[in-house]
Amino acid sequence: MAHLSDEKIPNNVDLAGDKKLQRALEQWQPNFLQWWMEMGPEGFQGNDVYLRTAVSVEADGWAHFDYVKMPDYRWGIFLAEAVQDRKIGFGDAMGQPAWLDVPGEHRNTLRRLIVTQGDTEPASVEQQRRLGHTCPSLYDLRNLFQVNVEEGRHLWAMVYLLHRFFGRDGREEAEELLGRRSGDQDRPRILGAFNEPIEDWLSFYMFTMFTDRDGKFQLLALAESGFDPLARTTRFMLTEEAHHMFVGEAGVQRVVQRSAELTKQSKNGDPRELGGIDLPTVQKYLNLWYSLSLDLFGSEISTNAASFFGTGLKGRAKEEKFEDHVALQGTYPMEVFEGGAFKHQDVPLRSAMNEVLRDGYVEDCQRGVDRWNKVLAEAGLGFRFALPSRRFHRHQGIFAGHRFDPEGNPLTQEAWEKRQGDWLPSAADRAYVKSLQARPLYTPGQMANWIAPPPRGIDGKPLDFVYVRTEP
Ligand SMILES: [Fe+2]
Ligand SMILES: [Fe+2]
Repeated sequence: MAHLSDEKIPNNVDLAGDKKLQRALEQWQPNFLQWWMEMGPEGFQGNDVYLRTAVSVEADGWAHFDYVKMPDYRWGIFLAEAVQDRKIGFGDAMGQPAWLDVPGEHRNTLRRLIVTQGDTEPASVEQQRRLGHTCPSLYDLRNLFQVNVEEGRHLWAMVYLLHRFFGRDGREEAEELLGRRSGDQDRPRILGAFNEPIEDWLSFYMFTMFTDRDGKFQLLALAESGFDPLARTTRFMLTEEAHHMFVGEAGVQRVVQRSAELTKQSKNGDPRELGGIDLPTVQKYLNLWYSLSLDLFGSEISTNAASFFGTGLKGRAKEEKFEDHVALQGTYPMEVFEGGAFKHQDVPLRSAMNEVLRDGYVEDCQRGVDRWNKVLAEAGLGFRFALPSRRFHRHQGIFAGHRFDPEGNPLTQEAWEKRQGDWLPSAADRAYVKSLQARPLYTPGQMANWIAPPPRGIDGKPLDFVYVRTEP
């Protein structure tokens, strides 16, 4: 593992031992950098940022902190350590040795899975590219850039798999990953939530809380894959992903804390009087990003999900927690919506794997919401946040095309149109939140008025540490 930093592309996959692959990736590298300069964080490419860089997968190697200019970030290819004699842990091939290469019959499906995951990584960088100009503090600015460079590394992780295992098709897909653009009419990113604009910091925190958390669950499911290189890649990505969700959950929590303080200080119980974000508006942003993120799990009843599981390509999060790894017997009880009424349906378990994964996600989200509510309770306020029903504001799956309120009650289109401004951020809400973030705060240790400071800095540094050098 020594001297990784001498290599053009840091890696623990013995790139030097595969000249053809090394050359292909070295050809892709300048295209990646060009994409990064065009679509990465706007206006900060020349600044020193106090970043964490993965230099190896060992405990002391993956979190190396120093100042670095983002275009000089050492994007590398790292797989978690191999598990000796690893066996496939679920599905029809359960108990057989994990695949070190792509089984021919699963080639197209695997490529699709890897491309779909890979596409989300550059997408989020594109969505967040202008936020630096409105940051609430240098601490937050640094966290944004940390998330951005790591999403860039996750793209590298997927591109490595495409180049290494999928030949010419893989190389073409790797180019396409740099060609699509978030929100673009003609060449959008693959998944819906990754084409939504992120134009303010409340949206950024909600995105990293809810949408990166979908990422966590997708990665957990792929970390079970019978295709061992995918399992090892995603296992290492999860270590980085944890920080992204910290940024989101803690970011929202700091907004909530500040909103609670300002609510109490204000004359009429409205923190907007004092330049804060009112709690009902925070709830609307929560409703939006949570529902968009629920869509990312796919349909509740899915033959694709069944075949991913059956073929051993994609398992459940923490598959070892489950008793039956074949899942040919059980059913999953579901309330489906047909002809304007709910109907009970027992769905064969394999076909319900998206919903099983979504269950773990909902539980994980609820834990974060509970922590936010604890802040409100400690502040002595009666307001509480709630996750909306899974039926609310869905664009994928069995509830898409129908209208429901946040409690999950069906609504007419007319009623929906009348009330949706109560549940989702209105144009006025968005304009208000943006108006609070018209200017960035670059003074070390200072914090915008609408958000509380974090309890501690990054890497043991104080809060007034210069996390990003903004002075020339
Ligand atoms: Fe990622
Ligand atoms: Fe992430």
